[in-house]
Amino acid sequence: MSDPAILVLDEGTTSTRAMLFTADGAMLSSAQQELTQHYPAPGRVEHDATEIWHRTLACAREMVEKAGGADRIACIGITNQRETVVAWDKSTGEPLARALVWQDRRTADFCERLKAEGHEAAVQDHTGLLLDPYFSGTKMRWLVDNEPAVKAASDAGTLALGTIESWLVYKLTGGTFISDASNASRTLLLKLGGSQFDDGLCSLFEVPKAALAEVTDNSGDFGSTLPELFGAPIQISGMVGDQQSATIGQGCLSAGETKATYGTGAFILANKGHDIPASSNRLLGTVLYQEDGQRTYALEGSVFVAGSLVQWLRDGLGLLGTAAETETLARSIDDSGGVVIVPAMSGLGAPHWQPEARGVIAGLSFATGRAQIARAALEAMAHQTYDLAQAFAADGAEWTSLKVDGGMSANDWMAQDIANLLDLPVERPEFVETTALGAAMLAAKGAGMVGSLEEASETMRGSLGTFRPSMENSVREARLTAWRKALAAA
Ligand code: G3P
Repeated sequence: MSDPAILVLDEGTTSTRAMLFTADGAMLSSAQQELTQHYPAPGRVEHDATEIWHRTLACAREMVEKAGGADRIACIGITNQRETVVAWDKSTGEPLARALVWQDRRTADFCERLKAEGHEAAVQDHTGLLLDPYFSGTKMRWLVDNEPAVKAASDAGTLALGTIESWLVYKLTGGTFISDASNASRTLLLKLGGSQFDDGLCSLFEVPKAALAEVTDNSGDFGSTLPELFGAPIQISGMVGDQQSATIGQGCLSAGETKATYGTGAFILANKGHDIPASSNRLLGTVLYQEDGQRTYALEGSVFVAGSLVQWLRDGLGLLGTAAETETLARSIDDSGGVVIVPAMSGLGAPHWQPEARGVIAGLSFATGRAQIARAALEAMAHQTYDLAQAFAADGAEWTSLKVDGGMSANDWMAQDIANLLDLPVERPEFVETTALGAAMLAAKGAGMVGSLEEASETMRGSLGTFRPSMENSVREARLTAWRKALAAA
């Protein structure tokens, strides 16, 4: 390999990956390691930040070796699961507690209290977000209040509270403490129109501002890795939350363009240009990316359970041997036999926002078998997407087509079912790793390999396939009626 390569670190919820890209967007190689999911109590989800660091480093080193050495790598782009919070000590660089994962619901009571005190409208106005335990701010407060080591570091002035990209940059550079605007916009502590974390919001959420990072652009020179990590320093030039990254990787660079990523959860983002988005339908306003201090925003619908439902059927219930089996099972029958699944295992996200809701499997009969359950699980993705399509349309952001990606979108049956239920063309890139591609595009821009994201999009993105709708109205209506009934029971 002789041309300069781009190394992407893709920090998902269930695994960490490293991938090597060429300057024209071809993936040369990848490495992946699973992350341990800790579920200490119902509604609680934790990660070990040290494990994240070590597994990231191991995957990255594998890629550096594949590239033939650090000198062959022009730059690094980081993309990550958002909202998950790490608390570490700046004097030691070591974590002070388990990381609280975005799915963790332990701060639901605090969110309720703030809602009861009437803060939600102002919080939404400033941050684009709602009072839900999903976001980082209330998790940061919980760590300071409940973990003595975190409190002690806060008192000593050595505490760092950050999202995953912030943690990794700190470790990779040996002490640079920054967070990019897309990740920072998921904390409840950044005003959509403000450049840095906000004093008033920090005091409302009782988060010590001194423990927060400096907010930066999404591309640029963020410093270099410590020479001893990879044999020579490598510049970090891109950082972005994974859903924003997929939006960029799908080339949604103009206002109105919309993508849906089906990973652990499902996240739909529509580019809203430079105007701060406002939703009247329980969608989120968020930073898509920031360049030279100027922000491009997105409207987002976040669904908490997508691929994790199939994973649960496979690993939790033992109903499936592999996730891919769902496609064969779904095709083996004409319908789900009346079975409807509402995957509210971590509460319901957009547009319902009910942290206390729990999952439902409705319509069971003695005729129900594995195939009906698997098909109902896939159908739930179209149902959840349909609810978001309605909310986006009510907010004036109607979809004319939808670009899908993420591991689960490789399932042709599911992609077709989404097209059918939405009655819209669904486009899927041949290369579905758009999350990693978005980070590669930002890193290329940050390192000066391309002049703009538009140029990166032209040179680095591949071709698309299209699924066209073909479902009778009566079938669609019957599906949606059954879905609404089951939803009411969640
Ligand atoms: O907001 C949570 C999201 O960033 C997690 O993404 O890809 O791990 O499902 P993923």
